[in-house]
Amino acid sequence: MINTPLPIVPQDSTDPKEVFATALARAVELPPRLATVMTEIETVANNEGIPVIGRLEGTIVQTLATLRGERATRVLELGTAIGYSALWLAHALPEGGKVTSIELDPERAARAADFIDRAGFADRVEIIVGDVFELLPNLGVYDLIFQDVMKHRYFGGDPALATELLRLTKSHLEADGVLMIDNAFCGGGVVAGDIGEPSNELAGVRRMNEVLASDPDFASVIVPVRDGLWVAHRKS
Ligand SMILES: C[S@@+](CC[C@H](N)C(=O)[O-])C[C@H]1O[C@@H](n2cnc3c(N)ncnc32)[C@H](O)[C@@H]1O
Repeated sequence: MINTPLPIVPQDSTDPKEVFATALARAVELPPRLATVMTEIETVANNEGIPVIGRLEGTIVQTLATLRGERATRVLELGTAIGYSALWLAHALPEGGKVTSIELDPERAARAADFIDRAGFADRVEIIVGDVFELLPNLGVYDLIFQDVMKHRYFGGDPALATELLRLTKSHLEADGVLMIDNAFCGGGVVAGDIGEPSNELAGVRRMNEVLASDPDFASVIVPVRDGLWVAHRKS
C-alpha cells in the first residue's frame, strides 16, 4: 500500500542532548496499563520497522497538548500507524476530549485499535481508515492537529501535495489552535546542502516549510528534535 520504501528515522536519537532528555522522559511515571503498552509498541515498531515518534517526541507532543488545557478537547491526528502517538495525545486530553486519528493501512489501524484498547483509552480515540486527502474535507474543526503522514506515498509522488495538505489541514484548525507536523527535516535532506536535483519528496517538504514559516496566520517554529517537529500556533 505504501509504495515508497524510505529509511525510517530512529525512535531515539543518538545526539547526547536528546539521549539525556529521552532518559528523563522515560523516567516519568505513566499509568501502568499505558506504560506497558507504550513499551510494547516501541518494541514492535523497532522490530518491524514501523515509524513511530519515539519517547522524547511523544513526551513533547503530549506536553504541548497539555499546555492547551481545556482548549484541546478536539484533537486530530493524521497518520496513526499502530497507535503510539495517538496514545500520547489521548493521555494529554482533558475530561471529555477525543482524538480522531486517520490511517491509510487497515492492518495498522486494527493493530492501533487493539493497543489503544489494551492501554485503556478506547473511549478517547477514534480511528478512521482511509486517505487523509479524501477524509479531511468531510471532517470538522479541531483545537490541535498532529500531521505525521509525511515521507509516504504522496510526498514521493507530487511535491505540490505537501503544501496542499498544509492548506487543507489549516482549514480544519480552529483560530487559537495548534498545528504540529513531524519530519520537517525530511530525513535530514532539508539541511544536507547542495545535493543536486532534490527528490519530489524533499522538494515538497522544503516548499511546505517555506509556506508555513512565512504564513502570517501562524507563530511557528521547527523544534530541532529527531527529524524536526513543526509547532505552529494559529493566531487568526
Ligand atoms: C510516520 S507513521 C505515523 C506514526 C504515528 N504518528 C506514531 O508516531 O505513532 C505515518 C503513517 O501514515 C500513514 N499514511 C501515509 N499516507 C497516508 C494518507 N494519505 N492517509 C492516511 N494515512 C497515511 C502510513 O500508513 C503510516 O502508518
